[in-house]
Amino acid sequence: MRVAIVGSGYVGLTTGVCLAAVGHQVICVDVNPDRVAAINAGKAPFHEPGLPQMLLTALSSGLLSATTGYFGAIAESDVIFITVPTPQKGQGIDLSYLAEAARHIGAALQTAANYKVVVVKSTVVPGTTDTLVRTILEDVSWRRAGEWGLCMVPEFLQEGSAVDDSMNPDRIVIGRWDERSGQVLAEMYRPFECPKIFTTLRNAEMLKCASNSLLATLISFSNQIAALCEATPDTDIEVVMDALHLDRRLSPVVDGQRIRPGILSFLRAGCGFGGSCLPKDVNALRSYARVRDVPSRLLDAVMSINAERSAHLVSLCEMALGSLEGATVAVLGLAFKAGTDDMRESPAIGVISYLAGKGALVRAYDPMVCRPTGLEDKDNVVLCRMPDEALTGADAAVVVTAWPEFAQWDWDGLCAKMRRQVIVDGRNSLRSVSWPACVEYLSIGTPATGKNEE
Ligand code: UDX
Ligand code: UDX
Repeated sequence: MRVAIVGSGYVGLTTGVCLAAVGHQVICVDVNPDRVAAINAGKAPFHEPGLPQMLLTALSSGLLSATTGYFGAIAESDVIFITVPTPQKGQGIDLSYLAEAARHIGAALQTAANYKVVVVKSTVVPGTTDTLVRTILEDVSWRRAGEWGLCMVPEFLQEGSAVDDSMNPDRIVIGRWDERSGQVLAEMYRPFECPKIFTTLRNAEMLKCASNSLLATLISFSNQIAALCEATPDTDIEVVMDALHLDRRLSPVVDGQRIRPGILSFLRAGCGFGGSCLPKDVNALRSYARVRDVPSRLLDAVMSINAERSAHLVSLCEMALGSLEGATVAVLGLAFKAGTDDMRESPAIGVISYLAGKGALVRAYDPMVCRPTGLEDKDNVVLCRMPDEALTGADAAVVVTAWPEFAQWDWDGLCAKMRRQVIVDGRNSLRSVSWPACVEYLSIGTPATGKNEE
């Protein structure tokens, strides 16, 4: 089939190369000419394992190209995906890019010679596709839904494994306006062997918001228990959560084997969740709840617990040093999680802000982030290219991203270069390191980092 992708970012480009990999003809549309040029030159515009190879294969087979021209791309396509940003705006969601994309698509539908299906893949709150998107498409194309198809297919891609998530999806959820729309997508997704759920547009939209909200809730739950462990002598969050995971409802026993499912990777206490999705999607659902006059107390608590994590990490550092005024602190990790160069909503931004507020100088290191974002207004930060540069002369180090390489460093040698040796492990990712005696190591969810009263 011929597929247009409107918005060629982490989700759009990854979706495009994977559809090309199963034989579809893909044209990626983007307003950013540099991104279009990079794609056509076979240069993946962001880090995603497997994407560079998939992109080159798609280009060399002639099954993928990129353009800034909406009209021609849409006119030549059978299916048009919308994967433009739907960022947070105040307490709600900014749908301006989505509306703009719908207007361009509607213009091409006006003179379409063949039946086309428009697919919203950007994360939106329930009711967006069949109201905002459908209305714009009908108004601009002068044709009613039915003359063209309309679907909502949520994305479930994790950054760092987006290609694998796309090629081997757990499920494909197809919200469709009508049967014909759904049948076209069923044909397009035929090469993917996984459960396919055909449902209403609003179920598909709600599922996406619910999925990310569950993941965020699990993370804030683990951070709630970690806070209680820090106030309780002889407890350790890692021991508690490992044992909790063995509940057969979380780790079922199948054919005598206990299956430790991936859900366990969403119960790790730390310095909170970031990224372009979880915070935005939970807040979008909260604002939707307000519109529907439904209390969202649980989601409100999930976000308020998360908002406190960066400040908590800095308070651990301040408790150990006595004062942060004039202190030099190495921040280890800028990306919102390991495996990506993406700093969107990263906890590191909050940590650095709080450190600046306390008068500390920050030396930041991340193995993958070359162009930090979100720190433009911070003048207390130096970006270091090597661990030595970040740690030499530092009074403390704060781990914000669980990069596996951190645990492999020569900490004896690095600690010897620090002025004082306080290590605050915001991801509990250095628990395996045998620290020199001079090091004060603090991690999340143990009483050593919290109140010690009986
Ligand atoms: C985006 C949304 O942020 C997310 O909510 C949704 O689930 C999927 O799409 P992502 O792919 O991470 O996620 O966005 P990003 O990496 O920022 O890429 C968006 C692309 O769209 C950029 O290349 C941008 O240039 C392009 N764009 C943006 C357009 O082509 N048209 C626009 O009007 C706006
Ligand atoms: C998320 C969802 O996982 C994915 O299904 C959806 O399609 C898009 O949003 P992503 O944003 O790429 O994917 O990152 P994810 O792996 O979910 O991590 C999100 C944040 O939670 C990161 O900051 C990570 O460090 C943090 N996290 C994750 C925890 O703090 N504890 C955990 O146990 C797991």
